Amino acid sequence: MKVTDFHKMKQSGNKITMLTCYDYTSASLLADMELDCLLVGDSVAMTMHGYQDTLSATIDMMCYHTAAVRRGAGNQFIVTDLPFLSYRKSLSETMTMVQAMMQAGANAVKLEAAAGNLEMIRYLSESGVPVMGHLGLTPQFVNALGGYKVQGKTEQAAKQLAKDALALEKAGCFALVLECVPRALAKSITQTLAIPTIGIGAGPDTDGQVLVWQDLLGMNLAHQPKFVKKFMDGHGAIQRAIQHYLHEVKAGVFPDDEHCYRSECVANDPKNAVA
Ligand code: KIV
Repeated sequence: MKVTDFHKMKQSGNKITMLTCYDYTSASLLADMELDCLLVGDSVAMTMHGYQDTLSATIDMMCYHTAAVRRGAGNQFIVTDLPFLSYRKSLSETMTMVQAMMQAGANAVKLEAAAGNLEMIRYLSESGVPVMGHLGLTPQFVNALGGYKVQGKTEQAAKQLAKDALALEKAGCFALVLECVPRALAKSITQTLAIPTIGIGAGPDTDGQVLVWQDLLGMNLAHQPKFVKKFMDGHGAIQRAIQHYLHEVKAGVFPDDEHCYRSECVANDPKNAVA
């Protein structure tokens, strides 16, 4: 996947698939899958570091996880989130941070909201940095929004969101994440824009979908938002495997003969090879 393919996929009606990824092992698992895009989201602060929200993500954290994902991801297209307030200080600081993220292995960066960001998006795009926008429920604004709520529900809010989407496209964004907005609004924005929309909690009419790794795999027992579909019971499956291991160790069943080295030295016996 290349940045130019996003536009082509929208034009051909081929849905874009994006999934968050935060570590080497998971990235290696995805490396040869037909996934279009990996997102090193600032949700990493919550999913991998246990913080309450994404506000605790730092530049170092994002670079560290991006580098780990790149080592596993092969040629997969990686988008990295710019963390809370990091791109609201100065253009020069933003450029230094984005440089570090691209050098860590990102192919593009993502940032939240339109107001106050347009000039910087233009400058980044003109500097060879593909930028993905993010509108609707923008988690970095959780305090300003008064919680995690569906956005664009009133006529005025919907109009503003549509206006922001067009402004992001005009500023140079190559794609736009729409999070937690009514289906009809996501559809109308998707039809208006030339760039693809990637939805999360925005219905089926966007040009693509994104989910958080832990949500898709059912790793959390906590209450999940309506838009999350657990494609497996990861929490249960992993606990069952570990329980199985605990049981076998206690019962003296593991390790069995198959998983032991022999004491007699038989030349070239593959059973004695370490790897
Ligand atoms: O950080 C993240 O995981 C995201 C997705 C929810 C789009 O931004």
